[in-house]
Amino acid sequence: GPTRIPAISAPDSTLAFLRDGYDFIATRCDALGTDAFRTRILLRKVTCVRGPEAVAAFYAPGRMSRRGAMPVSVMTLLQDRGSVQTLDGEAHRRRKALFLDLMTPERLEAARAILAEELARAAAEEWRGRKEVVLSDAIGGIMCRTALRWCDLPLEGEDIAALARELSAMIAGAGRIGPDRLRAGLLRARSERRMRDRIAAARQGHGGQGWVIDRLIAHRDADGSALDDAVAAVELLNILRPVVAIGRFIVFAVHARACHTGAAHWLEARGDEAACRAFGEEVRRVYPFFPVIGGRVREAFDWRGERFGEGDWILLDLYGTCRDGSVWPAPAQFDPERHMRPPPPGAMVPQGGGDMEEGHRCPGEDLTRALLTEAIGFFLGLDYEVPAQDLQIPHDRFPPWPRDGMRLGFSR
Ligand code: HEM
Repeated sequence: GPTRIPAISAPDSTLAFLRDGYDFIATRCDALGTDAFRTRILLRKVTCVRGPEAVAAFYAPGRMSRRGAMPVSVMTLLQDRGSVQTLDGEAHRRRKALFLDLMTPERLEAARAILAEELARAAAEEWRGRKEVVLSDAIGGIMCRTALRWCDLPLEGEDIAALARELSAMIAGAGRIGPDRLRAGLLRARSERRMRDRIAAARQGHGGQGWVIDRLIAHRDADGSALDDAVAAVELLNILRPVVAIGRFIVFAVHARACHTGAAHWLEARGDEAACRAFGEEVRRVYPFFPVIGGRVREAFDWRGERFGEGDWILLDLYGTCRDGSVWPAPAQFDPERHMRPPPPGAMVPQGGGDMEEGHRCPGEDLTRALLTEAIGFFLGLDYEVPAQDLQIPHDRFPPWPRDGMRLGFSR
């Protein structure tokens, strides 16, 4: 029969994907008047999809595996051997609970309090009196200390600046090919080793390594086995690294306030928790972070009148779905007020979609919201200027910073 999901004519889209980055899937969907098309990336057949219906199909329980599903080197650094991302079914559900159990209201409140202290300390001890601070440089150390303190990992003996560099490099290097990527891989090996040593020490009864390591040690997988030191270290980095990554959204929130006058006025006029939260949600919706999530079909299914067989590769456009004009009114407009109501179902997917417990949706979403809300409130109360600078955000980096790193002035 006729193809219901069109194929694009180019034989391979790898370079186009790298060049167009965040816009790759959406621009082609718009041009073809569709929300699904077929192409090849790295010569491998792939179906690219976007929008809430695609989210529902992609996140149907048990349907898609994450193994071998990320394009090029994009974010392969975020998928470590033996980690929760690589598991499926019951094994995944059990391991996932380990992460979700960390996110109690008390722990989220504690995280906010720690971040508030770290931001206030940086502002008082490091920023005050300095003409300019590059926020994208400054945020790594703040988030790293926040992450370690939240996990109750002792800061003593830890070279915070070095660890912050390592954790940030893993994120920044994730979307690159070549030396950056290699460097990130080496740095990862170093922090993995250090975390492994801490876990081994805790296991041998030298306590005082904090509640998160205690949880990792106490955890039992679906088959009843404990995590070995290497996998426990990988999962510990699966907590530390993304907490540091939340710093990107914090920088983006400062950027948004500088660039979107109407939204900034709305935030400043209200100034309350709900407004800060809504502003943070709009940052998560429109700013570029995870462009796509890849999956491979575990259980064959039909969608749009076509068959998806076992092993087939699908790329879901997270960024494009958050800006899908069929469900978001004026999608390109930065309008925090839209989050004073619940979002359209399946459309708010910056950290994945579907069910957190059953599927691979990010377990750190509540923590991300909590820390982002706290930080937005903090900057609202801080006296700073935004000097003239290049505020553009490139779209061919995964993920990007504002070109000048978001410089802030503290001359007064
Ligand atoms: C998974 C984004 C923060 C831990 C994911 C996924 C995305 C994502 C897109 C993949 C979803 C999928 O495979 O369907 C982000 C972004 C964050 C963030 C943009 C903000 C900076 C966090 C935090 C934590 C965390 C704070 C933990 C403290 C994880 C873990 C997974 C994951 C463990 C794997 C889940 C699984 O495979 O079941 N995240 N995340 N993330 N995230 Fe996050």
